[in-house]
Amino acid sequence: MNNQKDVKLKSGNRALMLLCLVLVIFLIAGALYGIRGSLFPAFGMRPPEIDVAAFSHREASQYTTVVKGEDGIHQGDLVLVNKTYPYRGQDSTPLTYVYDYKNNMYKVKDMEVSLNRRVVQAFNGMLAGFYDATGIHDVNVVSGYRSSEDQYRIVQEKQSETLLQNVSSLAAAPGYSEHETGMALDLSIYTDMGITHDFLGQGKYHWIRENAYRYGFVLRYPQEKTQTTGYDYEPWHYRFVGVPHAGIMQKENICLEEYIDFLKQYPYEKQHLKVRTQSGQRYEIYYVAAEPGETAVPVPSNREYTLSGNNADGFIVTVTL
Ligand code: DAL
Ligand code: ZN
Repeated sequence: MNNQKDVKLKSGNRALMLLCLVLVIFLIAGALYGIRGSLFPAFGMRPPEIDVAAFSHREASQYTTVVKGEDGIHQGDLVLVNKTYPYRGQDSTPLTYVYDYKNNMYKVKDMEVSLNRRVVQAFNGMLAGFYDATGIHDVNVVSGYRSSEDQYRIVQEKQSETLLQNVSSLAAAPGYSEHETGMALDLSIYTDMGITHDFLGQGKYHWIRENAYRYGFVLRYPQEKTQTTGYDYEPWHYRFVGVPHAGIMQKENICLEEYIDFLKQYPYEKQHLKVRTQSGQRYEIYYVAAEPGETAVPVPSNREYTLSGNNADGFIVTVTL
């Protein structure tokens, strides 16, 4: 009798242990997968809640054309500036002093730091979001727009600071820095006690790395893309490319070089890219190759759109649906 009871008790215990084990595995897996971004930033990022799909063109829009000259290739949110493609553009949006246009959620190194105005606007939104999430207000914009002459001085400084012969993976040659677009910026941390730290995007600051795409920013030189970007990891350097492009890049885990190539899968004549952001906003995106001289770029006649050159060989049209 007792033996039978023992057996029953033992198998009951085993079932209970098994249940507990399953529960523990389930909880750990849930923590790692579902909420890893908020509770466990060290485990990596939550993928953005953004849908990316191809769809047949003319589904949503009717088109007309605008004629763009060769200089149009060098203007817009999506210009690719790197060791292959120097910046030749002049953006139509003026530069503005960050100090004059910023909110109180972050700091700026001095009154001279300037950026493209729509970039400051987007950055204000991002840092307000960061402050709401963390209560931190010591992110400091240390560099924004740089002229080729500024860039020349920076290369000289880097060269004299370092014993390395070659600083080409740290600072761009004059004319080849995306700081010259006014759409790139470098961050540091400047505490209320007056202490400066490098911006490494760790701990609570990881929020910026995770959420930048929602405001149209990307970390331009990620650790795993140094071969493609040609530059060392720069956790402090962010580039504005606009929503939804930043979201697609983050979701696909691709850098700007790769994204500009990726978009060529969606030329005007074929399937376009359709994107829905987590706020429910939908976009249609397609690529138009530049012709020698002037290019007739198809654009929607009944929808809002933006048109950007890629600074290489064509245009990207982003339609708000
Ligand atoms: N440090 C980046 C690559 C620049 O100089 O533009
Ligand atoms: Zn930079």
